[in-house]
Amino acid sequence: MTAPPPLAGVVGWPVGHSKSPVIHGHWLKRHGLAGWYVAMAVAPQDAERALRALPALGFRGANVTLPHKETALAVADAASARARRIGAANTLVVRDGGLEADNTDGFGFLENMRQEAPRWRADAGPALVLGAGGAARAVVHALAEAGTPEIRIVNRTRARAEALAEIVGGVALVHDWSEAEDAVEGCATLVNTTSLGMAGQPPLELRLDAAAKAAVATDIVYTPLVTPFLKTARDAGLATVDGLGMLLHQARLGFERWFGVAPEVDEALRRAVLDP
Ligand code: ATR
Repeated sequence: MTAPPPLAGVVGWPVGHSKSPVIHGHWLKRHGLAGWYVAMAVAPQDAERALRALPALGFRGANVTLPHKETALAVADAASARARRIGAANTLVVRDGGLEADNTDGFGFLENMRQEAPRWRADAGPALVLGAGGAARAVVHALAEAGTPEIRIVNRTRARAEALAEIVGGVALVHDWSEAEDAVEGCATLVNTTSLGMAGQPPLELRLDAAAKAAVATDIVYTPLVTPFLKTARDAGLATVDGLGMLLHQARLGFERWFGVAPEVDEALRRAVLDP
């Protein structure tokens, strides 16, 4: 009997909007690999059982998206330090019949910045992070690990910003939402992790002129690719990086672990995801 092709997928609820099947499908084809990557819609009350069943079903692992990222961490037999600190997992790898959890969102954030803005350095100066949800947790953790000397967190609900600041300790400072413009002063990195600016949502309106001249602004929103926030940054003469790349780069680590090839993020992948 020959071994079946490797199997992986994405678990979410809903999952129909997920770009992961297109990303991994593109890489499987690009590298001529036999393998499957499937989308699995799993309701919240079934998530624990479904995730625990992945090894027995023959999966090499899975991506986990909303609202199951915390459950994925909780059911895993082992977890990376970053997944534990962030409190959520987006990548599960089956090893010796058990589940290992990781969170690759912060890796995706950093790699996107490095690819799209090669002169950007995490440690070049303070960073402003707008928002304090799941994406913000991964971004703040990644910036802290990469040596950002000061991370200014601004969120509409201040208590969430304070809870996030505690994850990374001293480098994180919380500012009021109403003081966001003051917090821009001298920043080398500007990140929107709120849903403001997404198609159908109000824009994020913030003057960015006080940022460092060499600052780079990025947005986790990628529909549209050029959000009002990134437009403001461009108008202020700043470099910008759109949010699609974070999604693409976070997928690299799972693909490599499940299918054994380290894939690349390039223009062909961007086109495939934007226009499947
Ligand atoms: P995710 O896990 O994808 O980051 P989330 O946890 O729902 O999603 O976070 C969404 C972020 O957008 C939060 O920081 C949220 O602010 P609150 O913590 O105050 O809810 C922010 N956000 C959403 N709508 C907003 C709005 N109209 N004005 C300001 N911030 C908003």
